[in-house]
Amino acid sequence: MRTTPLFTACFAYFLHTTALKIGSSLQWIEHTPQPYAIKNFYKGVTAPTIASGGVASVASDTSFDLGANAETQGLKQYAGHRNIRLIYIICEVPYRLVANKASGINKLSDLKGKRIGTIAKTSATVFVDKLLASAGLKESDYTLVSGSVCMKAPCSSSTFPQQLVNRQIDAFGVWEPAVELGAAALGANAIIFQNASVYREVYSLYSTTDKLKDPAKRKDIVAFVRALNQTLDVFANKPDTVYQTVASATGVDVSVVKAVWPDHHWSGTWGADLLPFLIDEDAYLAKKDNRAVIPKADLERFLDTSIIAEL
Ligand SMILES: *[C@@H]1O[C@H](CO)[C@@H](O)[C@H](O)[C@H]1NC(C)=O
Ligand SMILES: *[C@@H]1O[C@H](CO)[C@@H](O)[C@H](O)[C@H]1NC(C)=O
Repeated sequence: MRTTPLFTACFAYFLHTTALKIGSSLQWIEHTPQPYAIKNFYKGVTAPTIASGGVASVASDTSFDLGANAETQGLKQYAGHRNIRLIYIICEVPYRLVANKASGINKLSDLKGKRIGTIAKTSATVFVDKLLASAGLKESDYTLVSGSVCMKAPCSSSTFPQQLVNRQIDAFGVWEPAVELGAAALGANAIIFQNASVYREVYSLYSTTDKLKDPAKRKDIVAFVRALNQTLDVFANKPDTVYQTVASATGVDVSVVKAVWPDHHWSGTWGADLLPFLIDEDAYLAKKDNRAVIPKADLERFLDTSIIAEL
């Protein structure tokens, strides 16, 4: 079958007006500004859709225009796909590690020889390793144990909060609200460690150079990020109006959402400290993934402020 020029023109027009498709993990607190932005502020042509996915989706499936993930997955994908761009920061979260004082833990260095729950190949492991390194511990000084997060009590036996209560682990570090639930389950025996200068999750929005240079797509991406930016203002400054929405979207109790809110920073843009932070994390990931580090000039290109500049 031959394609007529008219048909091609119509098809191209159709492609340019299809709704933005965003890949995102739908269960985490960090993702909730995206549906909120679409529902309350987006003023583009057709409302974007959110499908399960992330930065790996934009790297490998051109039906995705945007993806959201922590900087850890962003760097892992960028290592093999240099067309990815980080265009906006939705949320920064200094992760927390909760430990059981009954295991003799009163300071970070007491975690030497202990069993620590975390999730392999994610930002959670980066956090645990970096936090313990800041106390002089090597990775061989402790044992990482796998498990699952819990979003709401009662937490099942395969989850970190329950493993902590059952003494299968002495501590765990991961994103919220599992740490909050673990601390609540331990009560007075809980001790929490956190250091934002050592590690914070940088949960970001990604696209590709191909999408960003397509004028119609770009316009729609700007419209969505503009809506996201209005959303972050609400999340940061009027949280009382969104606790219930976030709780319902994630299956977390409202009281727990409120308790972990101060650990979520709805930042949007970034400063000069992000580049050295990423250089440092990439060096760690390169070693783990047995690959070359990403050159600094490439990491500079990864951070694309041009969409923010158009808001
Ligand atoms: C956080 O880590 C930095 C760098 O290791 C250190 O200088 C600082 O004292 C730590 N802060 C806390 C509260 O432990
Ligand atoms: C994003 O929203 C904030 C208000 O929360 C505003 O101060 C800022 O200028 C906005 N950013 C851009 C790039 O428009």
